[in-house]
Amino acid sequence: MKIVIAIGGSILLQSYDYKKFQEYSDILKKLNNQHELFVVVGGGKPARDYINIVRELNAGEAQCDDIGIEVTRINAKLLLTSLGDVAYQKIPHNFQEALEYSAIGKIIVMGGTEPAHSTDAVSAILAEYVKADMLINLTSVDGMYTKDPNKYDDAELIDEITAEKMLDFISGKDTKAGTYEFFDMTAIQMIKRSSLKTVIANGYDSQNLLKIINGEKIGTKIVPKK
Ligand code: UTP
Repeated sequence: MKIVIAIGGSILLQSYDYKKFQEYSDILKKLNNQHELFVVVGGGKPARDYINIVRELNAGEAQCDDIGIEVTRINAKLLLTSLGDVAYQKIPHNFQEALEYSAIGKIIVMGGTEPAHSTDAVSAILAEYVKADMLINLTSVDGMYTKDPNKYDDAELIDEITAEKMLDFISGKDTKAGTYEFFDMTAIQMIKRSSLKTVIANGYDSQNLLKIINGEKIGTKIVPKK
């Protein structure tokens, strides 16, 4: 399968050291024997910290986004270092470059592209662009909930949802640099218009990636409209 995998910065930098980068690179190396892989890496706390600094310096929102993008590319570079020769050692800055670099047959790793969205959107646009069979978004929660699980005890995990319903849920949420909500609108629009087979799951347990690819029911699956 051709698979696009988004890994949140909060996952990779959970313990602020090399461990998650190594853990994921070991799994990606295994998967690479059977699948064509594109990985999109998020910014996490360092991106938010730098965005806060530059915002204090009076930068506009798009400029703040640009700082966030730079940080995602640093994280992508760390994962590339860990992957070594199985990955193409240059970070695509746009989708055309990602497609071009993939012709070599190695794992492609990238961060952000342009302002006004998060790496969730990058992964969904990339999945469209390269005609991926599957999009997997590894994030810091178990999937999509009926309500914010941090605020409500009766929040329930949704195991299947249509992109249309997700859009209803998420519309109206904040979209400032560094604060893109649980899953950004652009990403859902892409999933909707191209019926991308998508799973959102908890990435703190890196084994979840293998389980999803093996067809186990984990996280929230985005399904076509019934
Ligand atoms: P992330 O994709 O990591 O955003 O990009 P996020 O949702 O805030 O963070 P995590 O990783 O899931 O915790 C970090 C920031 O970089 C900018 C945005 O400001 C985003 O919030 N960014 C990223 C862009 O503007 N464009 C991109 O293509 C990617």
